[in-house]
Amino acid sequence: MEQTEKDVLILAIETSCDETAAAVVKNGREILSNVIYTQIKLHTVFGGVVPEIASRKHIEKINPVIEAALSEAGVTLADIDAVAVTYGPGLVGALLVGVAEAKAIAYAAGKPLIGVHHIEGHISANYIEHRELEPPFLCMVASGGHSHLVLVKDYGEYEIVGRTRDDAAGEAFDKVARAIGLGYPGGPKIDKLAKEGDKNAISFPRAKIADAPDDFSFSGLKSAVLNYLNQCEMKGIEVNKADVAASFQQSVIDVLTEHTAAAAKRLGIKKVAIAGGVASNSSLRTQMEKVCEKNHLTFYHPSPVYCTDNAAMIGVAGYYEYRKGVRDGWDLNAVPNLKIGERKKA
Ligand code: KG4
Ligand code: ZN
Repeated sequence: MEQTEKDVLILAIETSCDETAAAVVKNGREILSNVIYTQIKLHTVFGGVVPEIASRKHIEKINPVIEAALSEAGVTLADIDAVAVTYGPGLVGALLVGVAEAKAIAYAAGKPLIGVHHIEGHISANYIEHRELEPPFLCMVASGGHSHLVLVKDYGEYEIVGRTRDDAAGEAFDKVARAIGLGYPGGPKIDKLAKEGDKNAISFPRAKIADAPDDFSFSGLKSAVLNYLNQCEMKGIEVNKADVAASFQQSVIDVLTEHTAAAAKRLGIKKVAIAGGVASNSSLRTQMEKVCEKNHLTFYHPSPVYCTDNAAMIGVAGYYEYRKGVRDGWDLNAVPNLKIGERKKA
């Protein structure tokens, strides 16, 4: 009788910022459960993530979230083949909760432990709904802490092509949202308000870095928005917030889409993906689709729930590490500034 290969089940844990998340992933691409406890409401009153509060809440929520992920998937720890966990980059106290939990579970259940890079997880989210997607491809990653153009050469093999020189795209969204009084997190709020505004109302800069065409810079744009708001106040002009949101957002989108298409062309890459919280922006998705079509590039994007922080994406990345034979020891530690493509133990 022909022997079929056994299914591989990964239990994944993600606690790098303000989402406590656990998921069960089958054979790297099938999500059996994806449980996310978001702490956003707790941090909103402070206008941003408070690390100490995030860590405490992770401790409180991690066990029920994992139990829910196992039960929704209809499996027990005995069925799991490995435990994958985000070990960096992120807030050190928040990361430590997930890492300690993953180590305890893996040790107690006698399962292998695999540390996963958070951004490599974001990129891997593209595999979930695009079963046909295989490396090589170019991925534009834009989250609250990162803006990168990453060449995915193979499963688990990454090369950074471009990066932000200052603020991350999501950070710019959050800061501009705060300046126009929308609150935290800014991205989804600007996304919504921009739909009511005129994206051509105000001309904000689109930064280019002369000697590094694939790099980004968003701090000049953020300052331009703040200057515009100050000038309006000084002149007693009422600010049209929707126009500011739409014009600012358009500037970010133009930069992200144009840089991505230009890099793909230069590298001779025909497949383009997006990832990270900003990738859930509705106008960015529409424009990236158009730009890719114009440049004869195939465009891939995860559903919004797999763009913002989740553990399913960690399970997908963890599966490909598992297949490569990557196993971590009980000395796995949180690495808050972990670099892409660099497996490092603290
Ligand atoms: O990937 P993510 O959930 O967490 C990090 O790893 O940072 O990204 C969060 C970031 C925040 O800055 C948030 O404002 C932004 O993603 N974001 C958005 C949208 N949804 C979330 N930015 C623009 N448009 C959105 N719809
Ligand atoms: Zn993230």
